[in-house]
Amino acid sequence: MNISNDVPLTIMRATEGSSAPASGAASTPAQTVLQLNGISKSFGENHVLRDVSLTVHKGETVCLLGPSGCGKSTLLRCVNWLEIPDAGTVHVSGRRMGVREGSSIKMNDAELARSRARIGMVFQHFALWPHLTVLQNVMEAPLHVLGRPRDEARTEAARLLERVGLAAKMDAYPSRLSGGQKQRVGIARALAMKPDILLFDEPTSALDPMLVGEVLNVMRSLAQEGATMVIVTHEMEFARQVASRVVFMDAGQVIESAPPEQFFGAPQTPRAQQFLARFRSPHQAADGWSASSGHA
Ligand SMILES: Nc1ncnc2c1ncn2[C@@H]1O[C@H](COP(=O)(O)OP(=O)(O)O)[C@@H](O)[C@H]1O
Ligand SMILES: [Mg+2]
Repeated sequence: MNISNDVPLTIMRATEGSSAPASGAASTPAQTVLQLNGISKSFGENHVLRDVSLTVHKGETVCLLGPSGCGKSTLLRCVNWLEIPDAGTVHVSGRRMGVREGSSIKMNDAELARSRARIGMVFQHFALWPHLTVLQNVMEAPLHVLGRPRDEARTEAARLLERVGLAAKMDAYPSRLSGGQKQRVGIARALAMKPDILLFDEPTSALDPMLVGEVLNVMRSLAQEGATMVIVTHEMEFARQVASRVVFMDAGQVIESAPPEQFFGAPQTPRAQQFLARFRSPHQAADGWSASSGHA
C-alpha cells in the first residue's frame, strides 16, 4: 500500500526540508488553523462543555483524550456547527464558523455548507452512502458542494483511494467492504474536500481489533506528512506515538494539554492519572500502553 504521496496541499505543513525536527523547527510563528474560545454547551441541565478554549496550529496532530461522556464528541460537533454552542466562538483558518463575520447574524445553510467544507470529519460509524459505490462516495461532496467538474472529481477520488490502499475497491458498494476498508473510504472522502483540518471521532472504536491497524496507519502517514488533525481516540499507544500534543478533557473542561511524552510520562492531574491507569496493561512495562483493551 502506497500512502506516502500527495496529501492535498491545503493540509500540508510548509515542507521546508522534512528532516527538520517537528518540535524545534518553528522559527516562524505557527499558523493557527482552529481556534476555539470559551465554548460552552448544555443539553437541558447537563452542562456538557464548560468554557473550552483550544488552539490547533497548522501541521499539529492533537489527540483529544478523556473518559466517555466528558464532551469530546460534542466539542468536535461544535467545531462544524453540528451542535451550536451556547457561548464561545469557533474560527477555522481565521474565519468565524456559524455566524457572519462582524455580526451576530447566523449563517444560512449555504454559508454553513461553505464553512464546513474546510473541515473534514471522520466518524466512528463511517456514514458512507450505501447506494453509492466507493468512488462515488468520495466524489459526492467535491461534485455537489464544491461544484467540481465530474472528470476532475473522479480523477482526484481515484487518486485518494489509491492513497488509502483501496484502488481495487473503487466500484464496490460499501456493504461489500470490511470496517477497516469503510473507514479508509471515510478518510479518502474527507480528504477529497482538501480541508484545512481533519476531525476524527473515535475512528477505530467500531472496528474489529484486527482492522484497527490499517486505519491507524493511514492516519499516521497523514500526521507524518503534516496534516492538521484533531483525533478523539482511545488508542493510547497511537496517541503516544503520533500526537504532537495531547489534550485531556474531563467533565466538559480541558484540564491538561501537553506533549505526549509529558502527558503519558507524568500526567499532572489526578483525573488524568486515573484515566491512564485504566489503559495500562498489566503485561507491559511502566512506560508501555495497551492499545484499546481498557476502553474508557
Ligand atoms: N444531542 C444530545 N442531546 C442530549 N444530550 C447529549 C447530546 N449529545 C451529547 N449529549 C450528552 O452530552 C454528554 C457528553 O457526550 P459526548 O460529547 O458524546 O461525550 P464523549 O464523546 O466524550 O463520550 C453526555 O452526557 C451525553 O449524554
Ligand atoms: Mg464521543
